[in-house]
Amino acid sequence: MNNCQHPLIEAAAQGTLPEWAAVSPGRRAHMARVSELLDAWAAALGLPESERCRWRAAGFLHDALREVAPDALRAKVPRAQSSLPGPILHGPAVAERLRAQGVLDGELLFALAYHTLGNASLGTLGRALYVADFLEPGRGFMPEWREGLRARMPAELDSVTREIVGARIRYVVDRGLDLLPDIVEFWNVLVTE
Ligand SMILES: [Fe+2]
Ligand SMILES: [Fe+2]
Repeated sequence: MNNCQHPLIEAAAQGTLPEWAAVSPGRRAHMARVSELLDAWAAALGLPESERCRWRAAGFLHDALREVAPDALRAKVPRAQSSLPGPILHGPAVAERLRAQGVLDGELLFALAYHTLGNASLGTLGRALYVADFLEPGRGFMPEWREGLRARMPAELDSVTREIVGARIRYVVDRGLDLLPDIVEFWNVLVTE
């Protein structure tokens, strides 16, 4: 099945968001930049248009509920994810909305659900979304380091993913905060590949 043929995914790949999306112009611009990076990487990997379409859609959909209050999302995500910190809930919430509307593309839904948290089971699309969200050029922090990582994409997807996960873990540790198991398990998979 060409999963981009679901009308919601096909539309998102062209930049048309579902009616339930709630995004400011700035957020939408971020989603468009993530989508553009993903499309370029999919093309560089030689993926067919049916795959590129899914990658573009992932970029446009990942933050569709980022600006909805976490308390409004908490009841709408699977029980296993309902105790996650508020800023992480928008990924699982988008995946559930799409699933409820008939999207059956499990890899895409999983990529959307775990784009913030990371997960050991993320595949190529999920890792690419995780990386694109972090590296898109509109973000202001550490521009030179991130530009260097972008230049290595998509050929070095796995090692770039590892650098980003490592940096995020260091950031959390340096502030004395707790690490969620998902990112630790993600790291453990990345270093043993
Ligand atoms: Fe996000
Ligand atoms: Fe994002």
